[in-house]
Amino acid sequence: MADDTLLQAALAVRANAHAPYSGFAVGAALRDEQGRVHVGCNVENAAYPQGLCAEAAALGALVAAGGRRVTAVAVVADSSPTVTPCGGCRQKLREFAAEAVPVLCANLAGETLATTMGALLPHSFGPEHLR
Ligand code: THU
Repeated sequence: MADDTLLQAALAVRANAHAPYSGFAVGAALRDEQGRVHVGCNVENAAYPQGLCAEAAALGALVAAGGRRVTAVAVVADSSPTVTPCGGCRQKLREFAAEAVPVLCANLAGETLATTMGALLPHSFGPEHLR
């Protein structure tokens, strides 16, 4: 199943998280318009505000690889309720993702939350407002 591929990619990259300060490792995987999967993990910093979320790292990888649209999102962390993208990452993702884009959030216990970009960030501001 396609979503499972994305979930497994997010789970796998989570192992590389650099999260010595929070102890909260996160993995994210994004599918682009070509069907390719791009992954990212959180990268914390001793200067705490400089830390990078997993979703932002994955988005950077997607754009660097030439991707321009996000067609599916998966996020994995060891939390219950399941992790969801932070507010800042919702906006970052929204730049490249339509409202209908599925966002699958999961934890290590197998709990999942299936939602969409539009549900996570309703009435959002985006590129079309600047045209
Ligand atoms: N974090 C993510 O990487 N993604 C999320 O969706 C939620 C939070 C990271 C940021 C920080 O490194 C740690 O989790 C604790 O907030």
